[in-house]
Amino acid sequence: MQMKTLLVGYRAGDLDAKALEGDVVCHVLDVYDRHAIEKAWGAKCVCSPHLPEGPWDLVRFRTGPKVMSGELSLDLLQEIHLLKPAKFELDFVGRERDRNDLLAKIKDDPDRVRSFAATWPASVPGGPRLTFTSFPGCFCHRRLDDGGLALAEVVSRELGPAPRARRLTLLDMGAGCGLVGFLVSSAVPGIALTMVDSHTRAVEASRINSANLGIPADVVLSDDGTPPELDGSFDVFVGNPPYYSEYRIADVFLATAARALKPGGVCYMVCKNADGLRPVQLRHFAEVQVVNRRGYAVLKSQKGK
Ligand SMILES: C[S@@+](CC[C@H](N)C(=O)[O-])C[C@H]1O[C@@H](n2cnc3c(N)ncnc32)[C@H](O)[C@@H]1O
Repeated sequence: MQMKTLLVGYRAGDLDAKALEGDVVCHVLDVYDRHAIEKAWGAKCVCSPHLPEGPWDLVRFRTGPKVMSGELSLDLLQEIHLLKPAKFELDFVGRERDRNDLLAKIKDDPDRVRSFAATWPASVPGGPRLTFTSFPGCFCHRRLDDGGLALAEVVSRELGPAPRARRLTLLDMGAGCGLVGFLVSSAVPGIALTMVDSHTRAVEASRINSANLGIPADVVLSDDGTPPELDGSFDVFVGNPPYYSEYRIADVFLATAARALKPGGVCYMVCKNADGLRPVQLRHFAEVQVVNRRGYAVLKSQKGK
């Protein structure tokens, strides 16, 4: 019988054919990584917020300060411990001292099961104080993101508190734990909310926050926006994308906004550097207005009617 191996924390660029010999399953948290691994290696992937049940003969865990946050490392180490694999290998990327620090944190009481969930408050002017739940790996964990808050404030102010004759459909792309969409919905009456994120823990947090806050939301796991059948169905699009990829991810967000919005629908994107994002946004929309808030720029565009 072939040895059953679970790889945790690996991305497409970290793998080689040797690592994938035998009965190997790659666990990933983000559907983008699933697609990259399947495309490059044709390897078996499980994309889920928590590790898949065994039994596993071997679990290999790749981590380190440049691979993931310390808290996500501890959370996944705890999940690995609970899986009770026959063998465990730590593929630590970084200094020996950091590796020892990480292992020391779990050595004292390895059987204590810790919760890594956090709750924190957020609100926009005119809206109630909401309590958000987040998890390691999900953006943002334990703290409010000022860019997301600036975006929620600008959009809530523009949509206003007055009741309207019909519901407004709002798409929050890269929703994380749902900060922007839930804040806008808490201050603007009659919003029908859809959220998209590529990260399974973000989707898990948004669904929990939707239930806890009593704000219904359709939450979709996708790294390529909403499905084509939703094209042309949203009044408002909000996005606070990561900016580490030379605007490649911002471009995916804007392409989604351009097709998902109704004619006349409005797209709001938040960033630090309006000059960097403006030309990307102009690839998808005819004009861009900038609204400054909290040291961030919210770039607003309207889809042609
Ligand atoms: C900067 S965070 C913003 C989270 C939240 N909107 C906020 O303001 O706090 C960006 C989010 O985009 C998600 N993301 C990155 N690439 C994505 C993609 N291709 N499709 C959907 N979501 C993506 C990340 O998982 C992350 O949750």
